[in-house]
Amino acid sequence: MKLTLKIWRQKNAAAEGKIVEYPIDHIEPDMSFLEMLDILNDGLIMKGDEPVAFDHDCREGICGMCSLYINGEAHGPDRGVTTCQLHMRMFKDGDTIFIEPFIAKAFPVIKDLVVDRSSFDRIQHAGGFISVNTSGNTIDANTIPINKKDADTAFDSAACIGCGACVASCKNSSAMLFVAAKVSQYALLPQGKIEATDRVLNMVSQMDAEGFGNCTNTGACEVECPKGISLENIARMNREYMSASLKG
Ligand code: SF4
Ligand code: FES
Repeated sequence: MKLTLKIWRQKNAAAEGKIVEYPIDHIEPDMSFLEMLDILNDGLIMKGDEPVAFDHDCREGICGMCSLYINGEAHGPDRGVTTCQLHMRMFKDGDTIFIEPFIAKAFPVIKDLVVDRSSFDRIQHAGGFISVNTSGNTIDANTIPINKKDADTAFDSAACIGCGACVASCKNSSAMLFVAAKVSQYALLPQGKIEATDRVLNMVSQMDAEGFGNCTNTGACEVECPKGISLENIARMNREYMSASLKG
């Protein structure tokens, strides 16, 4: 395949960015999108040019690091996959592909296609955990029976990889789907009940402090989420928040 790439280049957070055009050839349909970018970067390095900076780690849909906006869609045109799992067979020979970073006030650009998503880490630190005794007499989790439906639903919520596609797809840059998934995975389990009140209040308060927008139920986040996190999580978080506010 022969393609034209139009890529956002930005030296650093303070510099102005712009789209730069790169022709690329000899791309196989079975290559992943990131392999295609590796080939582009090899060519740029050979010519003595600066390679395009982009985020990645596991390259198998687990870590949530790859975060590209491809032809106007977070993680590109396929469904239920991250950028690292996107194959070039989703594009046609001769296509022009626009590649931009995830844009949101709370995700400032570090360089080119790499954005700072540490705001998600701070939300997680505010309450996305349970406190357990690790002094040597930790109780085995299996000693507390959990019904299958709750366990499965909690597992579905825990599938969120913190990629930020929900924020990038939302016209308000809302992080509600991410925060709701993290609140839900504990709200459904007995281990999560003890700190439930503080968890939801602190995580929502940190989300607001980071500058994410409000949710207006457009549902774009659910469509673009590579892990199928559903809007039901947001409804659950709203119920948790309401009940915590009344207690608090
Ligand atoms: S909810 Fe989905 S889109 Fe949002 S961070 Fe989690 S996995 Fe990514
Ligand atoms: S590189 Fe880990 S999810 Fe894409």
